[in-house]
Amino acid sequence: MTDVASQGPAAGQEDRAVLTNRQGHPVYDNQNQRTVGARGPATLENYQFLEKISHFDRERIPERVVHARGFVAFGEFEATGSWGDEPIAAYTRAKLFAEAGKKTDVAIRFSTVIGGRDSSEAARDPRGFAVKFYTEDGNWDLVGNNLAVFFIRDAIKFPDVIHALKPDPITFRQEPARIFDFMSQTPESMHMLVNLFSPRGLPANYRTMQGFGVNTYKWVNAEGVTHLVKYHFQPHAGVKSLTEADAANIQAGDLGHASKDLYTAIERGEFPKWDLYVQVMSDDDHPELDFDPLDDTKVWPENDFEPKLVGTMTLNRNVTDHHNENEQIAFGTGVLVDGLDFSDDKMLVGRTFSYSDTQRYRVGPNYLQLPVNSPKNARVATNQRGGQMSFTTDLGEGQNPHVNYEPSITGGLREAQYPTHDDQGPEITGRLTRKRLPRTDDYTQAGQRFQLMEDWEKDDLVANFVDLIGQAARPVQERMVWHFLMVDDELGLRVGDGLGISPDDVRMLEPLQTQTLSEAELDRLANLG
Ligand code: HEM
Repeated sequence: MTDVASQGPAAGQEDRAVLTNRQGHPVYDNQNQRTVGARGPATLENYQFLEKISHFDRERIPERVVHARGFVAFGEFEATGSWGDEPIAAYTRAKLFAEAGKKTDVAIRFSTVIGGRDSSEAARDPRGFAVKFYTEDGNWDLVGNNLAVFFIRDAIKFPDVIHALKPDPITFRQEPARIFDFMSQTPESMHMLVNLFSPRGLPANYRTMQGFGVNTYKWVNAEGVTHLVKYHFQPHAGVKSLTEADAANIQAGDLGHASKDLYTAIERGEFPKWDLYVQVMSDDDHPELDFDPLDDTKVWPENDFEPKLVGTMTLNRNVTDHHNENEQIAFGTGVLVDGLDFSDDKMLVGRTFSYSDTQRYRVGPNYLQLPVNSPKNARVATNQRGGQMSFTTDLGEGQNPHVNYEPSITGGLREAQYPTHDDQGPEITGRLTRKRLPRTDDYTQAGQRFQLMEDWEKDDLVANFVDLIGQAARPVQERMVWHFLMVDDELGLRVGDGLGISPDDVRMLEPLQTQTLSEAELDRLANLG
């Protein structure tokens, strides 16, 4: 018998690169382990084999606890610099928006929320729309979704809403009965539900999808004046959605149609584009509105707060390695640059802790050293050292490498100077408490959204609600019909009709303890249906 390794390269393969292990040792035989005799036992010093198999054993990192399935692409953002005659710099000193034509590198990850990392991309689910801007002042992440609003308005409820939406802990199936049990007790979810169970909950693909920052952020100008802002991405390709039947057909043949669509479009040189608009409000609590500007279950009416174009994003490059650039990319709502800031939105504070916390666990404490996460267009100089998988030392130019502390007068790093000053925004006073926002208004915008739908969208929404809520317990069905009657007569009557529940069946239900009804809502309740 001929020894394979002694044969040398097969004909035609002479100029191919030679396989090595990660120590740089050439691999002479990648087909056979080292054994005592051809049939004999394997040896434990078989370094090449043990390295290969033990690395394989660790190929997966924990998938994201939410948004596990996703797809990344790269590109650039080009700023408009102004709105008509008004410079954007009047509102934010963030450099990426300052000049017309200024370009900033971006990475984007589109995702579904609930399924695992190999799950269907045609599932009814919100879609994630997370953008990383590699600015000269460091990275800015805008971590949004395609539906403009969210299910809850306080971060303390996030594990509950996700548990209700994720598979049952025993049957491991997503169960509508559990979802609507939770939602029926969570009136602020109505706006999101009306979106999610309409065709908007099944985007046709990632290229024809909007993206929204959802939470309220702040812009800060050079004088320290702050404004509240919301971000909106509008696709040049228009918005396209699927019906249940379309989605069922797609996922019967392909679980990854949206990734494939994006990847192949970019490979063909068809680069998708989105315009980025910003809505701006003065930084106060806006008592004239019937909702709170810090409530992420609400949109800001576009007639009162006109969306203004601040730039265009183009995606023009695919990932070169799914694990390195998709599994290990890490976004977070705390990742902001000078001129951009948090608002007091109670979801944002919880999100800002949660993202980097999960990433230290999921990717490792040095996740920010990875190329896809590091601020490639800004300088990094820290006194952080060590931790698993550290492979760079963030020395500043001229830094004494012995001095990894601050302050020091022997060549260590110094603090930066504030670009302008460190005080900004309105003064806030209050006592420590646990309270809902005073203006909840859980129903008005859900009703407006329903009435904006075309007939086929309304029909699809009602059919989906009847089918899924019909699988829940009767008291849950009744409470959902009660909520829908508060949202909009047509929606409540049609879903009630489908479930065999009339306004008279639910008229006696009391408001939930988790809601505060306004005068207008109490009136509506008195005349239900
Ligand atoms: C991913 C937490 C609300 C959009 C994640 C992850 C966590 C998380 C732990 C996984 C991150 C990772 O493993 O890298 C939370 C918490 C929330 C919240 C605690 C509420 C308090 C929201 C909202 C939105 C959103 C309101 C939409 C505006 C996303 C997106 C991703 C994500 C797009 C995927 C990021 C990626 O592609 O890597 N969230 N989330 N989340 N979340 Fe949230």
